Amino acid sequence: MCGIVGYIGHREAYPIVIKGLQRLEYRGYDSAGIALYDGNNIKLSKTKGKVSDLKDRLESEISTDGTLGIGHTRWATHGVPNDVNSHPHYSNSGDLVIIHNGIIENYDSLRKELIKRGYTFKSDTDTEVLVNLIEDVKKNEKTKLGKAVQIALNQVVGAYAIAVFDKNKPNEIVVARLGSPLAIGIGDDEFFIASDASPFIEYTKNAIYLEDEEMAIIRRGKDIKIRKIKNDALVDPYIQELQLNLEQIEKGGYDHFMLKEIYEQPDAILDTFRGRLLSNEAMIKLAGVEDNMKKFLAADRIIVVACGTSWHAGLVAEYIFEDLARIPVEVEYASEFRYRNPVITEKDVVIAISQSGETADTLAAIKLAKSKDAFVFGVCNVVGSSIARETDAGAYTHAGPEIGVASTKAFTTQITVLTLMALRLARAKGTISSSEFRHHLIELETIPSKVEEALKSDTYVQTIADIYKDATNFLYLGRGFNFPVALEGALKLKEISYIHAEGYPAAEMKHGPIALIDENMPIVVIATKKGHYEKVVSNIQEIKSRKGKIIGIVTKGDKSVKDLADHVIEVPETIECLTPLLTTIPLQLLSYHIAVMLEKNVDQPRNLAKSVTVE
Ligand code: G6P
Repeated sequence: MCGIVGYIGHREAYPIVIKGLQRLEYRGYDSAGIALYDGNNIKLSKTKGKVSDLKDRLESEISTDGTLGIGHTRWATHGVPNDVNSHPHYSNSGDLVIIHNGIIENYDSLRKELIKRGYTFKSDTDTEVLVNLIEDVKKNEKTKLGKAVQIALNQVVGAYAIAVFDKNKPNEIVVARLGSPLAIGIGDDEFFIASDASPFIEYTKNAIYLEDEEMAIIRRGKDIKIRKIKNDALVDPYIQELQLNLEQIEKGGYDHFMLKEIYEQPDAILDTFRGRLLSNEAMIKLAGVEDNMKKFLAADRIIVVACGTSWHAGLVAEYIFEDLARIPVEVEYASEFRYRNPVITEKDVVIAISQSGETADTLAAIKLAKSKDAFVFGVCNVVGSSIARETDAGAYTHAGPEIGVASTKAFTTQITVLTLMALRLARAKGTISSSEFRHHLIELETIPSKVEEALKSDTYVQTIADIYKDATNFLYLGRGFNFPVALEGALKLKEISYIHAEGYPAAEMKHGPIALIDENMPIVVIATKKGHYEKVVSNIQEIKSRKGKIIGIVTKGDKSVKDLADHVIEVPETIECLTPLLTTIPLQLLSYHIAVMLEKNVDQPRNLAKSVTVE
């Protein structure tokens, strides 16, 4: 996820673009850049770091005049965050300049083809490939920029929102979208471009939201021409009147980043699959695993090191790896692992899981494992982060920036990547049949829409939140794959509502927590149909006979738990190992609504930090 901004009109572009980028920093903030065009010269400045770093650098580096400008704030996907990989990118001739939000999946083959034709590349980005592809088409087909963009995009697989201009066309910007958002603000003889409407809300309330597979040619002082990228058909622009205020727009209309991120999960999981889960070909492609297959196959065991929510994702992975790939897994708190002289050998594979990629304890655990010659694989969200750089290989989660301190979409996308890894290794080891493998891929592909369905419980979850918001303690119970989900549900509630909560394996309840149960104790029980359903139903009976209040998370259509529980929240049915991706949704919503009702600071809870870079 990145943020893009553009302006073409009669005002100075720079102040609009730089302010716009600041508003879009929630979409990514590892590097930023701006290109301004005054009709004679293109002036470009870019840097690793935040938009404020860019501002300092740009104002001392280039003159800021020009009534055409484009800017980008980056959340790296291809190539680490550094000055060179930052956007905008020039084409080889220096005539074309582009900004891009998205991922070009076939960039490697396009790059090789362009290299054969004499193109050179300064950066590691897929975006520089795209701008040179457009240049190549423009040259070969002797066509204008708009047509060249269209032809080039028809050769591209992936997702994009782009804005590109040509030095020879000072009055034109071409934009296009597929899978990444792009809004065009329409002022008086001026146009604004942005990933959302926040950069132009004070200039105009009229906006066009491009649909997927649409492109627009925007000419200064003229109308916008929108076309379908595939068949060139002209599209009637649909101009919407914006009703939102600034604050709402940055949070996409949600009251909090946490809620926005909960709702982003269907897309985030889809982005995690993109180019990796190929169900038609019955394949999983994960370069980091593929390139190191020998190490994985020779491993005596896998050790997972992580903290917080990422540790919970590691616990889910333990169940999945052992079940599918039959590899023994140990899951360690990084903070304990690093200080307890653990037995590690060169035959161990260590998987470090971290959203931020900066957690100090996880980093130290990685260094320790490397010093004992173990192979260390990273599962991180932030591209180019310290953990991503320190590990021997890895796989990114591609969840986009997570701003809310309580982790939500990072958790489900971590589980997604780890499931892909387990399935790939299971296939390689022959511990899963080809038909089972295919079945898992097909089912995994349905998860984004099932998460969407699970999110529909939101209104009902609010009702439940209202009933129990004043409870002082909560218990969360689950078994098997859903035991870590119970831990995560309890952590979410603690973090943002400050209500004490404990997660427990359902059967362990009778060895202690059962003493806490009375008519004032709400107990969230994950009781999905597969797995140890009957056993969990027995646990629910035990709670009921002690008058505890039962909130069941059940499979759609469930009857037994419904008869026993005070409330049931349904999630769609799926195969057992994928249920955590669905059962976790109502638990996130429950903690969110309770915290809101208690008027807590949901996005920035007291005493916590998003990234803990101290031990
Ligand atoms: C902090 C955050 C948690 C997170 C944990 C691990 O405590 O508040 O949400 O799970 O760190 O962070 P990481 O970035 O390594 O996943």
